[in-house]
Amino acid sequence: MNSPLVDPFQRAIRYLRVSVTDRCDFRCVYCMSENMTFLPKKELLTLEELDRLCSAFVRLGVEKLRITGGEPLVRREIMTFFHAMSRHLDSGALKELTLTTNGSQLERFATDLAAAGVRRVNVSLDTLDEAKFARVTRWGRLPQVLRGLDAAQAAGLRVKLNAVALKDFNDDELLTLTRFCAERDMDLTWIEVMPMGDIGNEDRLGQYWSLGDLRARLAERYTLTDLPESTGGPARYVRLEETGQKIGFITPLSHNFCESCNRVRVTCTGEIYTCLGQEGHADLRAPLRACEADAPLEDAIRAAIALKPRGHDFDYSRQTVDGRVSRHMSHTGG
Ligand code: GTP
Ligand code: 5AD
Ligand code: SF4
Repeated sequence: MNSPLVDPFQRAIRYLRVSVTDRCDFRCVYCMSENMTFLPKKELLTLEELDRLCSAFVRLGVEKLRITGGEPLVRREIMTFFHAMSRHLDSGALKELTLTTNGSQLERFATDLAAAGVRRVNVSLDTLDEAKFARVTRWGRLPQVLRGLDAAQAAGLRVKLNAVALKDFNDDELLTLTRFCAERDMDLTWIEVMPMGDIGNEDRLGQYWSLGDLRARLAERYTLTDLPESTGGPARYVRLEETGQKIGFITPLSHNFCESCNRVRVTCTGEIYTCLGQEGHADLRAPLRACEADAPLEDAIRAAIALKPRGHDFDYSRQTVDGRVSRHMSHTGG
């Protein structure tokens, strides 16, 4: 039996986020440039390689697997991969198989995802205004995503919305989004915009809306109770007493949650990043492709985790974007 993955700061690594494609059918302004060039197909791990890789992590003690992208549901044959991963749910080794999606393809895939053992999905949705949605995603259509949400719920999936908090963009929708989620029994998590990717003239400092401010505004309308539990992710939650709903806050910039970090990421090209906010990474594709035995791959995973840094250096406090990470969120998988 392998010993579980533990990093130099005694954090057990139980959560793997895997990006299965860098492609997306949207181009959110904080995520991608309009004319993104995507990777050639041969650079990507095949579905078989992704299976071997994720299975190695599961053997090494990973209990929660989140599929991300880009948009994971635009990867061809991706449902084959979800169904393959469900064997680890059946064996009890994996406790949760889930995905983060923009929702555009959910109408098509929700039933199949549920059949593969997915119980909840996180859907990125920053605004409920059609024109603003088209603007932030550059061409996305909101009704398509709303139909996706309906389909997910009809298939029995629990839905959490992720909204990136953007000043002068969705700060006026705090209560609308809160009510929308209350009416549909969805959780809602707000994310501070992070300085990821070189995406042209986007003004990250100008976009930055602190979740401390958001929380204070929510408290003007609702009674907030801090909740001790976590989903094993970075969000911290409050309950709104008036509605009973849960609201999460992911605050990498104003509140560093690194000390309890339990996760690593693998990109669609097979690089392991042990911290979202650091450039340090290691290649897992070479050991994957070098031989059919899994021992070198497992050694490479252990070696990477032995170098996991204490935390990230994102910092807006000096009115600069120190700690800017040049790779795109879609490459690492958010
Ligand atoms: P739950 O299982 O619902 O807790 O999911 P999660 O919050 O782990 O996953 P989700 O994909 O919904 O994450 C939302 C966003 O939070 C990500 O896309 C990132 O933007 C951010 N995030 C997640 N993990 C980290 C992390 O370790 N560090 C930083 N800085 N941001 C993170
Ligand atoms: N800062 C914060 N969140 C981001 N996401 C993408 N780019 C950024 C960024 N620069 C979010 C998306 C989605 C998740 C995968 O990552 O909105 O919810
Ligand atoms: Fe696509 Fe998500 Fe990036 Fe938007 S944030 S462009 S939906 S990967």
